[in-house]
Amino acid sequence: MKVLLLLGLVAFALADNTRFEGEKVFRLKPVLDEHVTLIKDLANSIEVDFWRPENAELVTIDIDVDIHVPAMYLDIVSTILHQNDMEHEVLIEDLQSAIEGQIDNRPSPRTHSYTKYNSFDKVQSWINSMASSNSDLISKQTIGNSYEGRPMTLLKLGKKSSSVKPAIFMDCGIHAREWISPAFCQWFVKEALSTYGSDSQMTSLLNEMDVYVLPVLNVDGYDYTHKSNRMWRKTRSRRSGSSCIGADPNRNFNAGWCTVGASSNPCSDTYCGSRAESEIEAKNVADFIRRNKSIIKAYITVHSYSQLLLFPYSYTFELAATHNELMKVAEGASAALRSLYGTRYTSGPGATTIYPAAGGSDDWAYDLGVKYSYTFELRDTGRYGFLLPESQIKPTCEETMLAVKYIAAYVQKNL
Ligand code: ARG
Ligand code: ZN
Repeated sequence: MKVLLLLGLVAFALADNTRFEGEKVFRLKPVLDEHVTLIKDLANSIEVDFWRPENAELVTIDIDVDIHVPAMYLDIVSTILHQNDMEHEVLIEDLQSAIEGQIDNRPSPRTHSYTKYNSFDKVQSWINSMASSNSDLISKQTIGNSYEGRPMTLLKLGKKSSSVKPAIFMDCGIHAREWISPAFCQWFVKEALSTYGSDSQMTSLLNEMDVYVLPVLNVDGYDYTHKSNRMWRKTRSRRSGSSCIGADPNRNFNAGWCTVGASSNPCSDTYCGSRAESEIEAKNVADFIRRNKSIIKAYITVHSYSQLLLFPYSYTFELAATHNELMKVAEGASAALRSLYGTRYTSGPGATTIYPAAGGSDDWAYDLGVKYSYTFELRDTGRYGFLLPESQIKPTCEETMLAVKYIAAYVQKNL
């Protein structure tokens, strides 16, 4: 009886679990227009998962293009690359082994850990216990539910005050598979609480300002990457007329919505949704920021990978009105980050630093009036990509703390 039950469970788990045996991640280096055309043709004829940039339309000459190729297409892709003399390398030989290698073989603690990738349920119970055990500095509120009904819980950090304080808003986990991002938001909360009172900068920050942290924005997608498909990026919403699921929440904000670098095809990983804020998760965040726009002075959103510190605009090549200041702060933050382990970041406006892509939360917040709006793309530059090993959580979070604190200090000084 027990054996049968167990077999049943295993069968169920397998049925709902995408595996990636024998699948590879290639880095292509297009240097000719023909190479670019070839990559676009390839994307149209076979199923390739773009890691960087996020879709074929964003491919241009002289950028590194990282693609995940299913096993059945490996021969054809290799042949095409060789026939056309396109320089390339294999970043990941076997994606399933890389997925398994990402997790340390330390005995998996049943509870939450700052140096492991925690499931949605673990993050959620961690949020609840943080909020209840540190009530003088932290509180929680739900900003709404996700498409599948999960709560989107926001933590508010800051010394209680009778007057309204200016605030910083930071979210993590807008894209489901970028696991290092939610890990950073959790680290930030831990650091804020444990260094308040001893670190003078953190103390003054939380005395004078509130920091809102949304540890996981795309809660449904994040849960799905833990339970079913590690490579999922989008939300999990369904729509009539298509069997494809989800939209890209970072193409769903009302900033040049769906004009460039986004797809109107519901099956695409950069699908912009049926209209701006069609995704309830994007709408819940936008509603919160709109409601609090008079106090929110900075917006920080955390992604991976590529080691970039981006700021507006991404929906246009035009420079932001405060471009010079945004750049100066980004460069200071990148220098602070680099001072710890030598990790190099590139700073600049999204459109020119990576690619034009509309509908992002950073551009939307900036145009709403949030003067300091930044997108982090954390480690690494592609060796592991989305599958950054757990052993890198600590150094990545430590160095990123320095950059976020740099930005926060600047904002605080310039209130
Ligand atoms: N890799 C991120 C994305 O594609 C970069 C976001 C930059 N900002 C933007 N508005 N596109 O979502
Ligand atoms: Zn992302």
